[in-house]
Amino acid sequence: LAAMEEHEVKRVLEMPRDELELTIALSGCPSQNRRGVCSTLIGEMASEPVNVNEFKNWLSKLQPRILVDVTKIDMSTTVLGYRISAPIMLAPTAMHQFAHPEGEVATARGAAASNTIMVLSYGSTCTIEEVASSCNAVRFFQLYVYKRRDITAQLVQRAEKSGFKALVLTVDVPRLGRREADIKNKMVAPQLRNLEGLISTTLDSGDGSRLTTYIKETMDASFCWEDIGWLRSITSLPILIKGVLTDEDARMAVEAGIEGIIVSNHGARQLDYTPATISVLEEVVHAVGGKVPVLFDGGVRRGTDVFKALGLGAKAVLVGRPIIYGLAAMGEYGVRCVLEMLKDELELTMALSGCLSVQHITRGHVRTEREKL
Ligand code: FNR
Repeated sequence: LAAMEEHEVKRVLEMPRDELELTIALSGCPSQNRRGVCSTLIGEMASEPVNVNEFKNWLSKLQPRILVDVTKIDMSTTVLGYRISAPIMLAPTAMHQFAHPEGEVATARGAAASNTIMVLSYGSTCTIEEVASSCNAVRFFQLYVYKRRDITAQLVQRAEKSGFKALVLTVDVPRLGRREADIKNKMVAPQLRNLEGLISTTLDSGDGSRLTTYIKETMDASFCWEDIGWLRSITSLPILIKGVLTDEDARMAVEAGIEGIIVSNHGARQLDYTPATISVLEEVVHAVGGKVPVLFDGGVRRGTDVFKALGLGAKAVLVGRPIIYGLAAMGEYGVRCVLEMLKDELELTMALSGCLSVQHITRGHVRTEREKL
């Protein structure tokens, strides 16, 4: 407190109430009687380590098979019918020009060089068309739904016209989670535009709250299952839902006719105390019962992590932060390096586990804590 300005102290004092409200909104339980439950969730921040650590803790062991001829390993797979070199895709992450002046164009080229799929964020700092013309890799487009549906419809049309092959509807941001690091660091964005020029130069928050306000003002927090039909009516592209963490929601997504599910907690950046994604993957996979592909993200930092996710039923994984680190360090080449590093590690893991192809990676190759008890 001694180091704080008066207005900062005031902000801290106001936090519990704000946090409670936000927790309730993000839990999808607006009713007052859930407040008691929600208030117990309030406490210290959970973030990146939530997902990363769980790979080390809960799923601590692999079960390799021996005496298999592993001279030739094939890591390739298909996602929605598109063949990729390995089951490792690029998660949608916003504002790549934060990391590198060439932004998403460099990222897309890095993805293309590794022959995999990039999911372009709605918050891209390069236009849909710039990214599309930069390389001819397969690309998916991630979106949130704006209150102004015409803006969403325009973005979808542009993505479709530019050859994007699927839509990824991110559903875990009815409002923005409290990004305390941004507040603490007084995050100031460089001059950026987004796809519609809507954010433009106004992200110089000072207190990190501008993005929160922007999302609240522009995005449709009322969007729910019934509205999926509207999205379907404006596109012929397959739709994947990103942000599924429970078997109930996975079943509802299948019933809603969704073509794919992404198990994700937004990199543990939205709602504190969501479970690590690797710990809920299997329950979602069971609920889906093979009807649509289940993709996975959160904390994938090693080839062994990719292997574990596949063993628990994921069709492929998506990687967020490591791609941005690679981009920041060395642009397009850095993105490619990160992907190739993960692929090398996965290839070695497969060889040492006796798996010739991704189809050979089974549940039996992963030992969980639950089984040890
Ligand atoms: C994200 N993520 C994200 N998700 C999304 O659907 N749209 C977006 O614009 C963003 N933006 C974004 C920015 C940054 C800086 C990060 C770190 C993450 C979430 C992302 O798609 C993915 O779910 C997580 O990043 C996966 O976890 P790891 O790989 O970062 O641990």
